[in-house]
Amino acid sequence: MASNETPFPALPQVQAAVLGALGGLNRYPDMFAADLVADIGRFHEWPDDGVVVGNGSTTLIEKVLQAVVTPSGEVIMAWRSFEAYPIAVQAVGGVCVQVPLTRDGGHDLRAIARAVTPRTRAILLCSPNNPTGVSITHAELAAFLDEVPDSIPVLLDEAYIDFVEMDDAIDSRALLPQHRNLIVLRTFSKAYGLAGLRCGYALCSVDMATGLRAVLTPFGVNSLVQIAARAALNSRPDVIARVATIKAERERLLAAVAAQGWDIPRSQSNFLWFEFSDHSLRFEQLCNEEKIVVRRFGDEGVRVSIAEPSGSVRLLRALERFRAERG
Ligand SMILES: Cc1ncc(COP(=O)(O)O)c(C=O)c1O
Repeated sequence: MASNETPFPALPQVQAAVLGALGGLNRYPDMFAADLVADIGRFHEWPDDGVVVGNGSTTLIEKVLQAVVTPSGEVIMAWRSFEAYPIAVQAVGGVCVQVPLTRDGGHDLRAIARAVTPRTRAILLCSPNNPTGVSITHAELAAFLDEVPDSIPVLLDEAYIDFVEMDDAIDSRALLPQHRNLIVLRTFSKAYGLAGLRCGYALCSVDMATGLRAVLTPFGVNSLVQIAARAALNSRPDVIARVATIKAERERLLAAVAAQGWDIPRSQSNFLWFEFSDHSLRFEQLCNEEKIVVRRFGDEGVRVSIAEPSGSVRLLRALERFRAERG
């Protein structure tokens, strides 16, 4: 319960597709993953020229930053957010500008817009945000994109989009045609259950996509990944059914956590965030004693992924013990 994976094994049809492709491993993969790109383009009703697939969405984030960040160029992000962001910015010689989350664990888009300077090279948004699980609304994002100069690339990382269930949820596809600086990032690692294979994709303007493709490692997305991602995308009803199970478990857990008296952010994702500051280590120990592995971020808090119901039982037991200890 530490890496926001899905507890379900890869779908049987995905496993079968991968097994069926093993005999072709002597061949290089399709460098442009044309069939997968076409399936993604069809799924989103977006031109294939504006779709770029990569070896996990983390790679795409790194590559976009590599393409746009100049030495000491600034990249604005909410904080705390996905831990890979600052590493990726530093790796390309950029400077992180971290804008604190709101009290409820959401992005402070006004403060992010105010943080823009002539040195800003990119803005990273994460919705739902890892690790708080809080989502930006469509209206908030639309207003933000109208305000930010369109010369600044805005990366919208929607790794957990399939778990969102709220009014005014972001429809990033609807915003793409008006904002040529918007790059939407998706992954097959979460809802699709292919974290071990490494596949993500970007949707953006054709210009952006051309630039991004130019910096990608040739043959980066291997043939088994391409086959598996297509099979998963084309099994969308099965994927949605599994996501529904996780969402139901999340709602059950959120209610049980609230019933114990904890006030935690309203997660729209497949994980919960417990901001236990310098008690985080103790809570992690209690989780480990209950035989679950969770993700602690120093003395800020602990993120726990939604897994099987037996994992939820253990989490609730750890929380109960934690409360009892703290009196
Ligand atoms: C916000 C966010 N973006 C991207 C990723 C990574 O996705 P991928 O496995 O496609 O690299 C994660 C994984 O934890 C994540 O939390």
